[in-house]
Amino acid sequence: MKVLVVGGGGREHAIAWKLAQSPRVDKIYCSPGNAGIAEIAECIDIDISDHEALLDFVKYDWIDLTITGPEEPLTKGIVDRFEREGRRCMGPVKEAAMLEASKVFAKEFMRRYNIPSAEYKAFTSYLHAEEYVRMKGAPIVIKADGLAAGKGVFVAETVDEAMSALRLIMKEKAFGPAGERVVVEECLGGEEASYLVFTDGKTILPMASSQDHKRVYDNDEGPNTGGMGAYSPAPVVTPEVEKKIMDRIMKPAIRGLKKEGIKYKGVLYAGIMLKDGEPYVLEFNCRFGDPETQPLMTRLDADLLEIALSVTDERLHEASIGWRPEASVCVVAASGGYPGKYETGKVITGLDEVKNMKDIVVFHAGTAYEGQDIVTSGGRVLGVTALGSDIREARDRAYEAIGKIHFEGMHYRKDIAGRAVGAHR
Ligand code: AMP
Ligand code: GLY
Repeated sequence: MKVLVVGGGGREHAIAWKLAQSPRVDKIYCSPGNAGIAEIAECIDIDISDHEALLDFVKYDWIDLTITGPEEPLTKGIVDRFEREGRRCMGPVKEAAMLEASKVFAKEFMRRYNIPSAEYKAFTSYLHAEEYVRMKGAPIVIKADGLAAGKGVFVAETVDEAMSALRLIMKEKAFGPAGERVVVEECLGGEEASYLVFTDGKTILPMASSQDHKRVYDNDEGPNTGGMGAYSPAPVVTPEVEKKIMDRIMKPAIRGLKKEGIKYKGVLYAGIMLKDGEPYVLEFNCRFGDPETQPLMTRLDADLLEIALSVTDERLHEASIGWRPEASVCVVAASGGYPGKYETGKVITGLDEVKNMKDIVVFHAGTAYEGQDIVTSGGRVLGVTALGSDIREARDRAYEAIGKIHFEGMHYRKDIAGRAVGAHR
C-alpha cells in the first residue's frame, strides 16, 4: 500500500517511521517532510493547505491512505474533501475537529455532556470579560477561542496579567479572528498528562499515557513552546485514573458527538489536569500530539497501518493494539532563541554517531539538506528519543545521545521526565 503523511515535523517523522515497519506498506510519501523523513519516504513539495493539490496527488499516484499530522488541514476540512472523493484520510471531519478549532465549542460541548473541565464563561465583549475577571480574581486562565498555534492561552497569576491577556486578544487582536471570543476559566492546579485514543466513532482504542513539557526552560519556566520533550508512560495515569478518563471523558465525548450527528474518526487527544486523582479536560486536540507521538510510536507494538485503515474503514473493533513494556523519553533540541526569533541553516553534527546507538531514534522536526549537510530549518529541530527498561534508563540514554549532537545555538531542557523519576537532572 502507498501512504501519504501530511506535515513535516517530529510527529510526522514518528508516524512515517512506524508506518515503514508495516509489512503492507510499499511506499510512503510525505508533504513537505524533512531531512530525516527523506530517509524513509519520498518528500513532495505540496502546500498542505492546498487540499485540491494533495487530492490530485493522491489520485494520480494511487495512494491508499493519507494521515494528517497537524490540526490545520483537519480543521479546514481535508477529511471531508477526501471522503467526498472516496479517498481514505485518517482524521475527523471539519465539524468534529471543532473540538480543537474552537475552545468555546469544546467547553459548551463538555458542559452538555458533563465532561469534567474547569468552570468557565465565554465572552465576545471586552468589558464583560474584564468585569468577570475582576469578580473572579487571580489566578485565572484566559484563552482565545480559535487556533493560535499554541500561543492563545494565558495562565494569569494576577488580575493585571489577565487584563493584559484580554487586551492582547480582544483589543489588539493579536490572534485575529481567533480572538473574537475568549474563554475565561478557573485555574486548575495539579499534574498534566496527555491521553490519546484512536476511534472510528464507535470503538475507542486507547494509546499509552504520556506527558509533554510545554515551557521552554527547566522547572517549567519561560514561555510556552510547541513542546520541549515528552515521555510515556506517565506514571500519574494509574489504571484507576485511566478508567476515569475513559468513562468520564473519552466515551461521553464520542457518544455525545454521535448523538449530535457528528462521527468522530481519527485520533482524539485530551490534555488532562489531574487534581487529587480526578481528571479534568484542559483541551481537546483532534490529532496526534507533538512531541507525545515520538515516545508513543517507539512504544507502539502493533501495525500502525492496520490501525489507521480500521479507523478510516470503521472497523476498529477488529484492530488490536499493544505497547512495549519499556518506557520512552523524547528530548527536543531547539534552535537558539526559540520560541522567539531564531536563525536557521546551522549545520547539525553527531547524527551518524547516534544512529548506531541501540534503542535510540532521532526524529527530525526542523531539518533540511544543504548539499551533503543536514542543517536546521525550524524552531524545534530534533526529538532524540530513547527506550529503556524504565523512565530513568530511557532518560539517561536520551541525554547521552543528545550530548553527542551539536549545532550552533542548540538548546534543550535538562529535566524532561524529571518529575516521573522523582529527580531533576
Ligand atoms: P491548552 O492549549 O488549553 O491546553 O492550554 C495550554 C496550557 O495552559 C496547558 O497545557 C496548561 O498548562 C495550561 N492551562 C490551560 N488551561 C488551564 C487551566 N484551566 N488551569 C491551569 N492551567 C491551564
Ligand atoms: N504536545 C501538545 C500538542 O501537540 O498540542
